[in-house]
Amino acid sequence: MSELLTGIGELLTNDPERPKITDAAVVVDGETIAWVGEAAHAPAADRRTFLQGRAMLPGWVDSHTHLVFAGDRSAEFEARMAGESYAAGGIGVTTRATRAADDDHLGALVGDRVHEAVKGGTTYLETKTGYGLTVEEEARAARIAAASVDEVTYLGAHLVPRGDDGEQLDAEEYVDLVCGPMLTAVRPYVQWADVFCEEGAFTPEQSRRVLEACRDAGLGLRVHGNQLGESGGVALAVEMGAASVDHVNHLSSADVEALAASDTVATVLPACDLSTRAPLAPARRLLDAGATVAIASNCNPGTSYTSSVNFCVGTAVLQMGLTIVEAVRAATWGGARALRREVARDGRPAIGSIAPGARADLHVLDAPAAIHLAYRPGMPLTWGVWRAGRQVVAPVL
Ligand code: NIG
Repeated sequence: MSELLTGIGELLTNDPERPKITDAAVVVDGETIAWVGEAAHAPAADRRTFLQGRAMLPGWVDSHTHLVFAGDRSAEFEARMAGESYAAGGIGVTTRATRAADDDHLGALVGDRVHEAVKGGTTYLETKTGYGLTVEEEARAARIAAASVDEVTYLGAHLVPRGDDGEQLDAEEYVDLVCGPMLTAVRPYVQWADVFCEEGAFTPEQSRRVLEACRDAGLGLRVHGNQLGESGGVALAVEMGAASVDHVNHLSSADVEALAASDTVATVLPACDLSTRAPLAPARRLLDAGATVAIASNCNPGTSYTSSVNFCVGTAVLQMGLTIVEAVRAATWGGARALRREVARDGRPAIGSIAPGARADLHVLDAPAAIHLAYRPGMPLTWGVWRAGRQVVAPVL
């Protein structure tokens, strides 16, 4: 069954040769995009949908979220808005709430968050463990995540937790656990490993140990780096060939140069930067230097309780100096690149682009142009969403 989507006022493709097409059409055949171009030249299809001049983008590829949690931290957030600063220790609060939730409840919470993200235009989603922090709890989080999202990241190295007696565990012994039995327990459910390389979480040496063990177990690598200071996370991520280093708020010139010369994607998290009152990640500087930039929501209860990539993209334009084409590309192709899903084995586009051969993940806005995401901030602009060729969000008429 093929479908011609026509009457597209503005189409953003991520094709470097032709990033924007006006008066466009797209043909979807099954799960895949079959044709892209000007509406006047579109081939016939089994079905025809007229989009009345609305804008179409690739579905968001949200490459950094922490959806497996219970409880909220609104009191911590309120205190921060009154002048407190963010510290890694808040992770322990969510860890306690998450451990107390039973499987059904936790699974339902994750399912609701995925649903919320899809309603906002997200068609490909990564999420992390990291609020379990025992062998059993991390394995449970990984199993629940694997049932609901596209890619799962093991983040046992999120924080050194307290033991049953309330005492802080020894950091080196905890790293042994993360690299040993905990890794073995999560391995069937995860594709990636991550580490929070930061003051108050894990040192660069401890982070390296975690990344090496996870790489040896066959996992791809990602790093939470340079969020609270120049933590060494970026240098480590680049040296270890990580697919992405995320947050990147505090960068030296050497960090920017290293990222620009590497295959490691710099993932910026605009909603997190606002919610923690952090200096905005220098996305403009990174792009100008030649680095690959992704934008993600970082949905989590501590630093960024939103899965709205519409909001993140609008903020990147309003506050980070990106053009709308750059920001949309970063939140689609960039996210796919951060997950190494932007091209298929045959070299054709896979996820995060609107191009023949790519998965038909499409996001239609109730607006004539994508710039409305920044021009009309906060408005509910997602009108329709197609995931692998199937319409999963339809307008309420
Ligand atoms: O990506 N920075 C570390 N992890 C999360 C926040 C976790 C929390 O505070 O609960 C983040 O911002």
